[in-house]
Amino acid sequence: MSHTPAAPHGAESRRGPFRPGDRIQLTDEKRRINTITLTPGGEFHTHKGVLFHDDLIGLPEGSLVENTNEIRYQALRPLLKDFVLSMPRGATVVYPKDAGQIIAMGDIYPGARVVEAGVGSGALSMSLLRAVGDAGYLHSFERREEFAEIARGNVDTVFGGRHPAWQITIGDFQEQVLKTEEPGTVDRVVLDMLSPWECVDAVSTVLASGGVWVNYVATVTQMSRTVEAIRASGLYTEPESFETMVRGWHVDGLAVRPDHRMVAHTAFLITCRRLADGAVGIPGAKRVKEHSYSPEDLETWTRSQDPEAWSQEALGERPVSDKKLRRAAKDAKSMIQRGSLPAGTESADAGTLTEPSTEADTGN
Ligand SMILES: C[S@@+](CC[C@H](N)C(=O)[O-])C[C@H]1O[C@@H](n2cnc3c(N)ncnc32)[C@H](O)[C@@H]1O
Repeated sequence: MSHTPAAPHGAESRRGPFRPGDRIQLTDEKRRINTITLTPGGEFHTHKGVLFHDDLIGLPEGSLVENTNEIRYQALRPLLKDFVLSMPRGATVVYPKDAGQIIAMGDIYPGARVVEAGVGSGALSMSLLRAVGDAGYLHSFERREEFAEIARGNVDTVFGGRHPAWQITIGDFQEQVLKTEEPGTVDRVVLDMLSPWECVDAVSTVLASGGVWVNYVATVTQMSRTVEAIRASGLYTEPESFETMVRGWHVDGLAVRPDHRMVAHTAFLITCRRLADGAVGIPGAKRVKEHSYSPEDLETWTRSQDPEAWSQEALGERPVSDKKLRRAAKDAKSMIQRGSLPAGTESADAGTLTEPSTEADTGN
């Protein structure tokens, strides 16, 4: 007799006909997107009429529905990328294009033991949890409880409850990971924070030999300093640094060309692998000879002795206000309670946000 394995966490709620409690993305003929939560007897109002939720409940995904004024909407459940770009946030999120690269280049696999920091709004945690699966392990570290609270609300909403592979620890990654993970037991480390170079010792302790370390940093100075710190440790393969650009195309008859606008910059990725203890790394083929620059040159570029140089403001990020954080945490929590996007965003343009928020989020 064949055995049907249990569906992975959150999978069942993503399939089948529309049910009460589902989040639904409605796209109108002008490609405007609204996100609603299906409630028996509920109504979606715009100045162009009313759409009854009961007309959607029971329909297959991808159905076309009409409101009272025959305005048509295409109805689909939002994808993870849609949710990430519209969810409540306190800190800047890792964008879907970068999350995909982190999963691929970080070789995040089902069953992997992964640690990440910081959690921020939980966007990357969602992709990591999907990749490690129910039988995997994701331990996320976040120094600020207010951010962790927003992340919990967002992640719980996506998975319809707490994911069995996930835990969060509040505190500085460098200290907490050493208290909670045994040396050499972690398969993958993913850091999205202001100063990953401060974590070299901690990462080197917990990461298994052969394990992959992925860093996500916003500026070239952070990238430079992180790469040099990894190299200086002598414990890793030569770091690889890159960025990902995704350019959409307009394809319509003979008018086929790149889109006029794109998200030009989000961040840089740096990957490397832990060498076995005692092994000596093979240097990169085209390394600049150390005598061709002085320690002073490096200091001028990275200002390693000047903590002020590494503040959020110095890196061009405006700090987020406590008020905004409290609001985002409340919205994120209310989503899992109601199974929806927060009240007030139901008629917001949930799926059209394509650029990083300029509103300064961060919190790196
Ligand atoms: C840009 S956000 C992370 C966004 C997150 N990856 C996402 O996709 O939503 C950076 C986070 O790192 C946290 N952080 C910075 N340094 C940290 C450290 N040493 N240990 C733990 N968390 C840290 C900040 O509080 C902030 O929430």
